Amino acid sequence: MAGRRELFGGRTAAILALAGSAIGLGNIWRFPYMVGQTGGAAFIIIYLASCLLLSLPIFLAEAIIGHRAQAGTFGAMERLAPGTKWKWLGLLTVLSPLVILSYYSVVGGWSIDYLWRSLSAGFRLGADGSVSSDFGRFITSPWVPLLCHTLFLGGCAWIVSAGVKSGIEKFNKVTMPLLFVLIVIIMVYSLSLPGASAGVEYLVKPDFSRITPSAVAAAMGQSFFSLSLGVGTILTYSSYIHEKENILVTGVGTVGFDLLFALIAGFAIMPAVFAAGIEPGAGPGLIFETLPYIFAKMGASAPWLSGAVAVLFFVTIVCAAFTSAISMFEVGVAYLVEQRGVSRRRATLLVFAATWLLGALCSLSFGPLSGVRFFGRTLFEFCDFLTSNFLMTFGGLLFVLFVGWKMPRAAVRDEFTSGGTSRFNAAVFDAFWFLLRYVAPLAIVVIFLTNFFA
Ligand code: PFF
Repeated sequence: MAGRRELFGGRTAAILALAGSAIGLGNIWRFPYMVGQTGGAAFIIIYLASCLLLSLPIFLAEAIIGHRAQAGTFGAMERLAPGTKWKWLGLLTVLSPLVILSYYSVVGGWSIDYLWRSLSAGFRLGADGSVSSDFGRFITSPWVPLLCHTLFLGGCAWIVSAGVKSGIEKFNKVTMPLLFVLIVIIMVYSLSLPGASAGVEYLVKPDFSRITPSAVAAAMGQSFFSLSLGVGTILTYSSYIHEKENILVTGVGTVGFDLLFALIAGFAIMPAVFAAGIEPGAGPGLIFETLPYIFAKMGASAPWLSGAVAVLFFVTIVCAAFTSAISMFEVGVAYLVEQRGVSRRRATLLVFAATWLLGALCSLSFGPLSGVRFFGRTLFEFCDFLTSNFLMTFGGLLFVLFVGWKMPRAAVRDEFTSGGTSRFNAAVFDAFWFLLRYVAPLAIVVIFLTNFFA
């Protein structure tokens, strides 16, 4: 069966696909607003440390499982631990990315709408100083967000149905380099605005008094989300990497790109926020409320330039959301194709139908269904809370325990060092093994408890 599976064309294709999964709304939307809310440069320092010491080993653990098994999440557990309870981890990690995809697609849909707005009327300031785009009214209206969610998910289905090589690989190969070019252009514009230097200072001058336990837990949680950990997407994509490729090289490449992109996004957004005289702790409304306000404000003096930057910005968001969403879509498709013998086209349709329905309910939970509550939260909030605070960390913990305590050390070492051929990897293996067996599980339990009690 392994021989018949489609694989990525090479190391670059694999890194671009994995980076495509990692780089998304988490980098452009969540990272800057968390930096703003949780303490600027101090947060960035903790974030860097948790990416390297915690998330990289977890990323590698997931990648090792997929690469070794050459199968999607459920099949990997069946292959590496046949007939054991680990199959439940396989099942959990088929379902959790589909829950994330459902609400992620709603936000992806909003970005499509905002791209359309920036291309058509643009963003203008009203006489009372408010922006022409009213985010609150938009998301509570039922039809347009639903239509945009359908368009976004339909786009994902179209890419995934074309296959691993002609769909996913091709899309990432074009989109990922474009994303880097676009975000650098936006950063240059942002840095050139009068007053931008206050934003730069905010990002580089740490205030160590802001390093609190909850800031540390937030940074670790953000690195989890940003690297798509604990839900089987990294595992599934790694199963499409050729057996002879080394997992450490791919992992370091992906984590490096993800970090770099988040930092550039920070330098693209914060200087503009400061230049417009806005508080950096605006929270989740940063992209859809604060930035349109900034575009409108800048547009008063340079309408053409600010309009063009707004278009580039929303193109970046839409593309980044697509490359992440297709990785979640693929997890469900791989399960149906490999374990249930369904054709790729049919599997795509089934995943589309299930995630469309849940996503539609999430979308309506801002308006007509806002009264339906789960533990005091709307359906959208509940799905987000459940996945980012529990399912991702829980899945990550089980993956780490599986590699660190269930897989034979020799098999893990073999994957890590490409069968003992890489001397450098052999030299750092013990450090990796220590981080994986002791540090990562402990840190995940700490994040888990902090989220639970905070
Ligand atoms: N890493 C993505 C982002 O930063 O936007 C989000 C994500 C993608 C989470 C895929 C989970 C996942 F399985």
